[in-house]
Amino acid sequence: MSLAQPVTFKHSGLTAPTPTLKSAMTERLCTYDDADLGARGKTTPEYNRLYEEWGKGKIGVIVLGNIPIDREGLEAKKNAIIDARSPFDPVENLKPAIAAAKAHGSLVIGQLTHGGRQTSEEITKTPVSSSDVQCPPMGGMTFAKPRPLTVEEIDQLVTAWGYGAEVLYKAGAHGAQLHGAHGYLLSQFLSGRVNRRTDDYGGSLENRYRIIDRVFKEIRRRVPDEKFMLSIKLNSQDFAEKGLTNEESKQVCLWLDEAGVDLLEISGGSYESMGTAWSHQKESTRKREAYFIEFSAAVKDSGIKSAKVCVTGGFRSKKAMEEALGTGACDLVGLARPLTAEPYLIRDMLEGKTDAARENKFAAGMQTGASIVQIAAISKGEPIPDLSDEKVCDEVLAILQGGADQKKPVSEQDTSNYQKSENKL
Ligand SMILES: Cc1cc2nc3c(=O)[nH]c(=O)nc-3n(C[C@H](O)[C@H](O)[C@H](O)COP(=O)(O)O)c2cc1C
Repeated sequence: MSLAQPVTFKHSGLTAPTPTLKSAMTERLCTYDDADLGARGKTTPEYNRLYEEWGKGKIGVIVLGNIPIDREGLEAKKNAIIDARSPFDPVENLKPAIAAAKAHGSLVIGQLTHGGRQTSEEITKTPVSSSDVQCPPMGGMTFAKPRPLTVEEIDQLVTAWGYGAEVLYKAGAHGAQLHGAHGYLLSQFLSGRVNRRTDDYGGSLENRYRIIDRVFKEIRRRVPDEKFMLSIKLNSQDFAEKGLTNEESKQVCLWLDEAGVDLLEISGGSYESMGTAWSHQKESTRKREAYFIEFSAAVKDSGIKSAKVCVTGGFRSKKAMEEALGTGACDLVGLARPLTAEPYLIRDMLEGKTDAARENKFAAGMQTGASIVQIAAISKGEPIPDLSDEKVCDEVLAILQGGADQKKPVSEQDTSNYQKSENKL
């Protein structure tokens, strides 16, 4: 199947102009204040400009970087936030970026999240989670021991997720994606490793899935318009002992399909296992590029009726993307890091200007930080650091290590979080 083939989603009836998806990437371009919670999460001209650029790239579906639905449950400082307690109008806050991303025909959906136990100690000393299982230190970050959410608090979060989706709808987005992957709060509920509850939200897979089911129902209650697309990003597995397994994840996909979710985006790993999940561990994976394609194929074979399946992670060449689509193992291909290096990569592939993403020579375990430096450059209209050039890699590393050459434009960015952004998704 060609990269030029549009994809139509069953429930919403929406059509993505190409079978490609820009996966959610934290931008860290919004306002943040340690003490004043109301001063967090406002978008900036830089945030809007970033989406203007991606909007020009002939990407089928653009997923906005994770948007916490609780101003204390952040993935990182400077996230965009939708929280009913914020003093600004959340709809007006997001409208410009969504309009810019939509301007050339891409579908645009917002990723709604909560950091749960993966919210760093710098942001909160009192995180919440499904249970009190602490996240080990990672990439220079530490995490306080979380407190299990009460049932009343779960109810409040379900409401907050519904509100988040309604805000996205009113701000012009085509849909909402729940972040159910990478060890964030919904993934903390799904994982038998983290979720030790003995009430209706823990124990059996059905119970661990219950919060997600409730959130989707709440979204549909608040946004009855079927044209508003429902999506989720889900781990194929957690790659951690007693974490979500392939078999469990497949079952969850079937339930989501039944529930009317249009787009299942498949990923894998959490802060505890990202190194394994997000690199080409085997030669066979290196060849086919996509990390989770076997799982995606298994999901498609398992009796999914209407949801489209997108597999994200590892794709670099047009050939591998078209092969994955051609075998029917997925309906869309998702990309992240290549699109921070080359925001118009898909367009360039379609126009025959290139066959593959530029090589990324940055240290494998530190590419998230490097991508955030590239995002900062795009957002300011500056030249994007070319990570196929080892000298540039050294310069970006210096920025990440805080020893940047201050004359370099991207080094004007606040880099305090970049070192700690390793594997932080
Ligand atoms: C800078 C950066 C930020 C990311 N932020 C998010 C995020 O907010 N939400 C999410 O689900 N995944 C996030 N990811 C993960 C990507 O969406 C994607 O799953 C991962 O990078 C693998 O795809 P790739 O091999 O094409 O980069 C992020 C990745 C990078 C590089």
